[in-house]
Amino acid sequence: MSGSMLFSLLLLTCVPCCIISSSANDQLLVNMTLVQNASAIGAYCLDGSLPAYHLHRGSAAGASNWLLQFEGGGWCNSVASCLDRAKTHRGSTLYMDQMEPFSGILSNNASRNPDFYNWNRVKIRYCDGASFAGNSIFDNGTSLLYFRGQRIWEAIILDLLPKGLSNAKKALLGGCSAGGLAVFLHCDNFATYLPTNTSVKCFSDAGFFLDARDIMLNNTMRAFYKNLTSLQGVVDNMDKNCTKSEYYPEQCIFPQYALPYIKTPVFILNTAYDVYQFHHILVPTSADPHGVWNHCKINPAECSPNQIDILQGFRLEMLNALRFFIEYSRRGGLFINSCFAHCQSESEDTWSGADSPRVNNKTIAEAVGDWYFGRRDTMEIDCAYPCDNTCHNLIGLRSSFRHYNGTSRFKHLT
Ligand SMILES: *[C@@H]1O[C@H](CO)[C@@H](O)[C@H](O)[C@H]1NC(C)=O
Ligand SMILES: *[C@@H]1O[C@H](CO)[C@@H](O)[C@H](O)[C@H]1NC(C)=O
Ligand SMILES: *[C@@H]1O[C@H](CO)[C@@H](O)[C@H](O)[C@H]1NC(C)=O
Ligand SMILES: *[C@@H]1O[C@H](CO)[C@@H](O)[C@H](O)[C@H]1NC(C)=O
Ligand SMILES: *[C@@H]1O[C@H](CO)[C@@H](O)[C@H](O)[C@H]1NC(C)=O
Ligand SMILES: *[C@@H]1O[C@H](CO)[C@@H](O)[C@H](O)[C@H]1NC(C)=O
Ligand SMILES: *[C@@H]1O[C@H](CO)[C@@H](O)[C@H](O)[C@H]1NC(C)=O
Ligand SMILES: *[C@@H]1O[C@H](CO)[C@@H](O)[C@H](O)[C@H]1NC(C)=O
Ligand SMILES: *[C@@H]1O[C@H](CO)[C@@H](O)[C@H](O)[C@H]1NC(C)=O
Ligand SMILES: *[C@@H]1O[C@H](CO)[C@@H](O)[C@H](O)[C@H]1NC(C)=O
Repeated sequence: MSGSMLFSLLLLTCVPCCIISSSANDQLLVNMTLVQNASAIGAYCLDGSLPAYHLHRGSAAGASNWLLQFEGGGWCNSVASCLDRAKTHRGSTLYMDQMEPFSGILSNNASRNPDFYNWNRVKIRYCDGASFAGNSIFDNGTSLLYFRGQRIWEAIILDLLPKGLSNAKKALLGGCSAGGLAVFLHCDNFATYLPTNTSVKCFSDAGFFLDARDIMLNNTMRAFYKNLTSLQGVVDNMDKNCTKSEYYPEQCIFPQYALPYIKTPVFILNTAYDVYQFHHILVPTSADPHGVWNHCKINPAECSPNQIDILQGFRLEMLNALRFFIEYSRRGGLFINSCFAHCQSESEDTWSGADSPRVNNKTIAEAVGDWYFGRRDTMEIDCAYPCDNTCHNLIGLRSSFRHYNGTSRFKHLT
């Protein structure tokens, strides 16, 4: 198996999103809506199935406000990995569950989600493998793949506009992981569909993927994204001002380069030790062939002092990449905490729960709400690991934890 394929498969199996949450049986489940009209613009999932979303209607004061949340789930950057993906719920609506749990920022419970619970809330399903930004096709006569993420985005917006989105008073475009990356890619475009007097903002959770070198000093993530953007035809859908200014146009897929060109207010939520980035950008398997990092990847308490130093270096690299944003963004928001986690907005126990992560005693739900509604400036940067005792440090991502058997993903270390 080639390294690239292995890497892609790891990305596929290491589902980088907050699927696991409290098994509360009071959780809202929302029915799937297939976008029948998507075929009119050739907007298909990898396998040719119709794209979909889940909509829970707003009420009362939130009835004309809209939250759109992109689903995450890694990427596929080779024909082989995309063909595999097309046979799963990450590449086809045929394999998706009809009913989707809505929790965290999508919850309808006012005490768990005080600022957005009564908005129209939409979860946009991810089935294209390129953060809703590809526009291409692979067809060699025996295999066919639709790389139509950009069209899926358009088809879903066109479907939602007549359902009330076109009259939105307030709007927020969110998403986590690959969905958090999609937020950066589509933020300004989202605003163009809405009336100029609509309050439009964007919120990226765990989408600030760094253009960082791995521990062997290779630009593994850059190579990964280069393959992704060329396979799926992403470059044409990125911000033109960015692609014409940066040295390599495809670099604009990294939020740190795209951010200065985004005009719509953005809130960036990320942990400085993002587990996905740790396992795939800083220490991909290709850079640690002997598995020296395996224990540290599973449990930060088992990292050696040298490994902790390297992780602290990654944190500083992230803060450095955000420096421009921190200093010059007037309307932006930031929450960089120091937990080992990935995606914190879609699960009750990291969004607003009594023991959820906090920085300066603010939960993520409070920070995002304060920023959206302009209640205060929100630029929170946590002290370095291990100072934060509010973390739920994530362990045992499948890709690095070979004995993972599907049960315990989270461990409370404190
Ligand atoms: C979900 O939607 C489908 C198709 O729109 C419908 O047939 C089904 O009854 C709905 N299920 C629930 C539980 O609402
Ligand atoms: C479907 O798309 C066609 C062509 O763009 C458009 O004329 C029609 O109004 C759409 N129908 C719905 C139900 O959105
Ligand atoms: C809303 O959340 C609170 C706090 O978690 C919980 O006590 C309450 O039962 C929930 N309400 C509903 C209707 O689920
Ligand atoms: C088409 O591509 C698939 C996947 O790469 C490959 O298995 C197949 O052999 C190719 N078919 C032809 C006719 O080249
Ligand atoms: C925006 O302007 C339109 C037309 O003047 C008006 O109907 C609508 O209520 C306004 N929306 C907001 C959020 O002010
Ligand atoms: C990473 O860099 C090393 C040298 O530092 C090189 O030998 C190796 O082939 C590179 N690996 C990849 C996957 O590019
Ligand atoms: C990118 O694609 C090239 C050529 O197919 C392959 O050799 C390389 O391993 C891929 N890199 C990544 C990180 O996917
Ligand atoms: C590029 O920048 C110019 C000048 O700021 C602006 O007018 C234009 O809308 C931008 N284009 C895009 C695609 O963002
Ligand atoms: C932290 O916030 C909670 C409310 O969320 C409050 O009850 C508590 O007093 C605050 N603690 C400090 C030290 O400010
Ligand atoms: C796997 O999970 C089950 C619970 O589903 C547990 O009983 C079992 O001990 C676990 N096996 C291992 C090897 O961890």
